[in-house]
Amino acid sequence: MLTPNPPPTCVSSIIGTGSYMPEKILTNDDLSKFVETSDEWITSRTGIRERRIAADDQATSDLAAEAARRAMTAAGVQPEEIDLIVIATVTPDMLFPSTACFVQKKIGANNAVCFDISAACSGFLYALQIARHFLNAGTRTTALVIGAEKLSTLINWRDRNTCVLFGDGAGAVVIRAVEPGVAAPGRVLSTVMGSDGTLTDVLKVPGGGSACPITSDNIASRPNTIHMEGRETFKHAVTRMCQASEQALAAAGLTKADIDMVIPHQANARIISAIADRLGLPMEKTFMNLDKYGNTSAATIPVALDEAHRQGKIKRGDVVLLVAFGGGFTWASSVVRW
Ligand SMILES: CC(C)(COP(=O)(O)OP(=O)(O)OC[C@H]1O[C@@H](n2cnc3c(N)ncnc32)[C@H](O)[C@@H]1OP(=O)(O)O)[C@@H](O)C(=O)NCCC(=O)NCCS
Repeated sequence: MLTPNPPPTCVSSIIGTGSYMPEKILTNDDLSKFVETSDEWITSRTGIRERRIAADDQATSDLAAEAARRAMTAAGVQPEEIDLIVIATVTPDMLFPSTACFVQKKIGANNAVCFDISAACSGFLYALQIARHFLNAGTRTTALVIGAEKLSTLINWRDRNTCVLFGDGAGAVVIRAVEPGVAAPGRVLSTVMGSDGTLTDVLKVPGGGSACPITSDNIASRPNTIHMEGRETFKHAVTRMCQASEQALAAAGLTKADIDMVIPHQANARIISAIADRLGLPMEKTFMNLDKYGNTSAATIPVALDEAHRQGKIKRGDVVLLVAFGGGFTWASSVVRW
């Protein structure tokens, strides 16, 4: 649905958040029954205690649709008011149609233009920026931006280096175009993004695409699962997320002293505390829920944002810094005046 007379420029405001986490819990002790690991190792190296696993009959679009419904309820928005759906995922229902089209059907958002984007764990902030450009240009009015993953389908449950880290879940926001000068909470003040394609080999799912289709000859080596160099990923994650945070603050005309809450990508508690340390922020200003969910890739930031809001940890007027890092490598950061 195009606006009949698009205003020259608008600003984008987050007017509702929602999340959905599958019911099934997989604890560190459960994992230690099928790989050589322990609750003590996983907790001390990552901060993760348990993660959620979607049911066999739940696809990524089912998780995403429930998160979207909750965000629309919070925003007081009807499905037909949504004119754009952007989903960030690396676990689409199918290679095509897009997961966004499946969500459109499930929630009845019949007036929306729908597509997916692929930027791994930075995907939600990439999607937010894409949707924001549509809204700020005045060509769309109300968007659903969703990060949703069923990462359990990409896990090699025999690889202790990776299987302990990831989980399933979905988070969503509704963003709306607001005319400049109109007071609106949840205003996205800035977003910066970056990519480094020279490091594609460090964190990847090598098989299942056009470069390495799955065949009966290669399936035994599990190319369709996550392959990661953990230490290398850790190092780049800290550096890039700190840089992106500083750039997003500068783009918003703010400094570290203005931050009320950081909502970082939830990959590893040690990565998050290294970032807080480098930004000179106390841990109380850093939201973490990875102990319950692990790394849900594109879903971590919208899920954490929704929980921080519902728990009253961010209040109207607060400066909230969102920051992510993922395979590619990719990274991004947004500053929001809540
Ligand atoms: C994966 C990660 C937790 C590993 O922690 P680490 O301190 O770097 O550990 P190392 O890779 O040095 O491995 C140390 C040892 O633990 C072992 N190990 C790995 N996973 C283990 C597990 N689940 N349980 C027990 N031992 C494990 C390794 O085999 C290694 O053993 P070795 O010394 O005998 O070879 C850490 O590197 C990390 O979090 N990296 C970033 C991952 C990430 O965030 N990915 C997503 C980004 S979006």
